[in-house]
Amino acid sequence: MKKLWGGRFSKETSSLIDDFHSSISFDQRLYREDIRGSQAHATMLGEQGIMAAAEAELLVKELGAILVDIEAGRVEFDLAAEDIHMNVERLLIARLGPVGKKLHTGRSRNDQVALDLRLYMRREISGIQEQLLHLLKVLLELGDKHIETVMPGYTHLQRAQPVTLAHHLLAYSAMFKRDYERLSDAVKRLNICPLGAGALAGTTYNLAPMRVAELLEFDDVALNSMDAVSDRDHAIEFCAAASLIMMHLSRFSEEIILWSSAEYSFIELDDAYSTGSSIMPQKKNPDVAELVRGKTGRVYGDLFTLLTLMKGLPLAYNKDMQEDKEAVFDAIDTVKACLLVFPPMLQTMTVKAQNMRRAAEGGYTNATDLADYLAKKGIPFREAHEVVGQAVLNAITQGKALCEISLAEYQEWSSVFAEDLYEAISMKTCVEKREVLGGPAPAAVRQALQRLRTWMTQ
Ligand code: ARG
Repeated sequence: MKKLWGGRFSKETSSLIDDFHSSISFDQRLYREDIRGSQAHATMLGEQGIMAAAEAELLVKELGAILVDIEAGRVEFDLAAEDIHMNVERLLIARLGPVGKKLHTGRSRNDQVALDLRLYMRREISGIQEQLLHLLKVLLELGDKHIETVMPGYTHLQRAQPVTLAHHLLAYSAMFKRDYERLSDAVKRLNICPLGAGALAGTTYNLAPMRVAELLEFDDVALNSMDAVSDRDHAIEFCAAASLIMMHLSRFSEEIILWSSAEYSFIELDDAYSTGSSIMPQKKNPDVAELVRGKTGRVYGDLFTLLTLMKGLPLAYNKDMQEDKEAVFDAIDTVKACLLVFPPMLQTMTVKAQNMRRAAEGGYTNATDLADYLAKKGIPFREAHEVVGQAVLNAITQGKALCEISLAEYQEWSSVFAEDLYEAISMKTCVEKREVLGGPAPAAVRQALQRLRTWMTQ
């Protein structure tokens, strides 16, 4: 088959090479963007008098018909036509003849593919942002339910101080909110129209790049033609943002996995979101969370693929850049798939509030509060820390919680201890008194939930 660029060639491309450099197997998913971009380009060519208005109209219409046919599964892409851009153009020429051959005036596949990728990513990013909002909504609902659900907060994976489940979940909400904002920020640099850059040096036609940008809802046009065709920063930025989403999901997954173990027994995942073992009949495994944790590696890999791909590329376009798409697509697919299963997994899990509270009570998580109790009565904090340390050691040897040690015993360590110490170290006090902005006290958590809710409805 004669190539669209075949004029200066006297031989056919080897079929080996057709296989090797064709990207249609994966870039066909850009068909909508490719067609929409071509329609905008043709419209502008007509408006600028670079082609007759009637010809432009014909091109726009036939491109629309091709879109319908692709969506109905009536189009078979051709490997020898290399990529989505030339496949669509070839179809157009087959249907319209000479007029079809005018579409590529003042354009190159280099600015075309840059455009398609930007359009595609813009659409997908907005979908991922919707998914993040949904996840945040689910976390808000769970937060509302668990403002009073006391659980241990950990450092070094050792029980540290009591918090609530709502507070713990709000930590993840803060991460996913930042992820949302990071994507919005990336879109500012993504939403720039590269059309008009041509192959690398612009064109001598009287194009109207601003008009194309307007038709395609871009915020601006690229101001350097060489950068326009060779910039993939936006793809890298997206993969970095996607990696952070995955990192957050992965940390969350790790906790879900730990919490579902018999050792913690803080939650039980719903049967519909767990799987069994083919040999051990008793098993109920948190596979969903494990897979999310595992898939995080793929997305980091996609980020590194792109960083490595672009490193050392001379200006402007190089065919290496065709390799960008699979990494971007994989990152998008993976993040979307994980964000799809995560919220219902959370929504359907059972929270074992009793076990959480017991773990908080049994873990000496109120020891800081006991030291603070002494400090508030005038004992220097370092000293109070020492005294309580000894009390804890003693309680551990007796196998008792701090609230189970008698006042008489406490008074052996310090005469400052009085009956009110029990109130001061109750789980309720430990949590409720931490009213500082951003703290776990119900009042502070309600405020944080409210702030998040307001942000979400803006
Ligand atoms: N399929 C190519 C890509 O994805 C389109 C651009 C080709 N340009 C070129 N000069 N060969 O990068």
